[in-house]
Amino acid sequence: MDIVILAIESSCDETGAAIIRNGKIVSNIVTTQAVHKRYGGIVPELASRAHQQNIIPVVTKALQDANITKRMLHAVAFTQGPGLLGALLVGASFAKSLAFALDIPLIAVHHMKAHILANFINNPKPTFPFLCLTVSGGHTQLVLVKDYLTMELIGETQDDAMEEAFDKIAKLMGLPYPGGPRIDRYAQHGNPHRFAFPATTVPHLNFSFSGIKTAFLYFLRENQKRDPSFVEKNLYDLCASIRATLIAMALDKLRKAAKQTNIQNIAIAGGVAANAGLRNRLTQLAQEEGWRIFIPSLAYCTDNAAMVAMTAYYQYLAGNFCNLCVSPMPRMPL
Ligand code: KG4
Ligand code: ZN
Repeated sequence: MDIVILAIESSCDETGAAIIRNGKIVSNIVTTQAVHKRYGGIVPELASRAHQQNIIPVVTKALQDANITKRMLHAVAFTQGPGLLGALLVGASFAKSLAFALDIPLIAVHHMKAHILANFINNPKPTFPFLCLTVSGGHTQLVLVKDYLTMELIGETQDDAMEEAFDKIAKLMGLPYPGGPRIDRYAQHGNPHRFAFPATTVPHLNFSFSGIKTAFLYFLRENQKRDPSFVEKNLYDLCASIRATLIAMALDKLRKAAKQTNIQNIAIAGGVAANAGLRNRLTQLAQEEGWRIFIPSLAYCTDNAAMVAMTAYYQYLAGNFCNLCVSPMPRMPL
């Protein structure tokens, strides 16, 4: 049977549309919103307006690239949450209207599950069960993935997400938004052993990333008192050292989770999974621990509609549809 699904992603600042045909992504269009750069962070109201402008061109291009007409669709999927409410509403309203007009099923997709299923877009694909460290803009989670649609949250951050630590620390060093990718770039030229920062920890498989940010602030203040150009002189080593610390904090818990569950299939997902330091360190760790690892290609780490389409495909096979009155959910448990 031919199954063709259009998926829409609009949870934050990327407007995305993708077509999946019989489990294969045949088009994937993402438009990033440049408007937020000058504000040093995402402005929700501006994100909604940009989605409103982008959604029709992005969907039109996704259909064209896949050589598909609207009439050939079997279902329309959208990101239900978590995310910014105004941003989610744009994707939800569009998807509902299209499903209503075409009289085809509507599929509501959980954004964090979609990040995890990005691991199924390319080969090699994980086998179940596997553990996933999901590190996105707002979340840092450890998930036990039992099946495409059955996932258990086994650990998460108690305060800031890993990404927020990256971004806030970058800001303390005067780097422009978004700071995380910039720290990652500069770190490649620095010495990760030059500065030591106190990695904080919390019980069980949970994370805490707020203490390290404060420790970094005091460390900078102290050094800048002595030398006002401390950051400029040591930028690469600072980036390398803090990146290594943050990665060690995250991977420590991943290792603990692997031991506790006795699972050696390990994946990562989310925007921070694009971090070169994290990808490299995970690859080394996999050799030490005997893990099989799965890392999505860069385009499928940050927000995209292909991962929503992949999740929608498995929901379609499971008959997991929603009615047209469904609401977007800014917060949504896994
Ligand atoms: O998963 P994602 O696209 O959006 C959410 O679901 O929130 O994650 C976006 C985040 C951004 O904050 C971005 O700065 C971060 O992922 N990011 C990175 C890197 N590339 C993207 N953080 C650290 N290092 C990177 N190389
Ligand atoms: Zn995301």
